[in-house]
Amino acid sequence: MNAFDMTKDAQGSASEKRDFLELDEIPAADLRRIVDESRKIKQARAGQPKGAVDVGAPLADHVLAMVFEKPSTRTRVSFDMAIRQLGGSSIVLNSADLQLGRGETVADTARVLSGYVDAIMLRTFEPEKLTEMASHASVPVINALTDRSHPCQILADILTFEEERGPIKGAKLAWMGDGNNVAATFAQAAAAFGFELAIACPSALQPDPAIIEHARAEGAKITVTEAVGDAVKGADAVITDTWLSMNDADEARTRRHNLLRPYQVDAKMMKAARKDAVFMHCLPAHRDEEVTTQVIDSPASIIFQEAENRLHIQKGILLWCLNRL
Ligand code: CP
Ligand code: NVA
Repeated sequence: MNAFDMTKDAQGSASEKRDFLELDEIPAADLRRIVDESRKIKQARAGQPKGAVDVGAPLADHVLAMVFEKPSTRTRVSFDMAIRQLGGSSIVLNSADLQLGRGETVADTARVLSGYVDAIMLRTFEPEKLTEMASHASVPVINALTDRSHPCQILADILTFEEERGPIKGAKLAWMGDGNNVAATFAQAAAAFGFELAIACPSALQPDPAIIEHARAEGAKITVTEAVGDAVKGADAVITDTWLSMNDADEARTRRHNLLRPYQVDAKMMKAARKDAVFMHCLPAHRDEEVTTQVIDSPASIIFQEAENRLHIQKGILLWCLNRL
């Protein structure tokens, strides 16, 4: 390990730097702690998510650089608010405005940013760019979505599910539709949190088999099927996502829509799940494509709670990365 792999913790002692990259690489106990502490941080605000600094301003004087190679609404605003409420501040860097956008390497960008800021958040395409950023930055790097995964979202979703339905351990989650980055991250989380994941998707759009196999080897109970009925039966949550992710070519739209139409979440599908099943979606949603307006606006839908919880969970993630948790 060289000096670039080290960071200073709150007490000033050297420790291994904590990157938040993939859920299946972070110890399960740490993931559990992030969710539990984030819930406490949320509760301490007594239903007031907006404004004002959290008690103690634990990240006073800390600056987060947020690098975006793809668009974002929730991630951009919730990370900015999270670091502000922890007493710190952020700099938003759209890659088109950086030298990164005209050929400076990720490695050099990582080294340069590490001289200015305390943590780096990256939303990008290839997961290799994220690992390159992390291996060359001397400060923690956070995965804010790649083509492969979206770990901040899934921890927020676990927090949200547990607020509504109690412990996720032993629950059954049904994923409907594209086996994309969000679906794959649920698979990465399944062993650590002990939930069952049933993925219903067309065979051409299954999640990365390597991620599924790795999760199963860690003890996760995951089924991948084309049979919607099998997946949704007994489900405590029905989850879906857009049929065209940011990394999917627009030309693929018609083919993907044709393949995915049978997986649309509608009222009939919700009725086939448990009576008290919740509907979840990371957003942005395309109403009457992957989910009907009736379901997304129904009492079972907890989508805006998921969106708000991005704020709370990312405080836990920032505190963990900076050795405060
Ligand atoms: N769910 C999510 O990550 O949303 P944004 O793309 O708006 O950040
Ligand atoms: N699967 C979606 C998630 C957006 C938050 C995408 O990658 O575009």
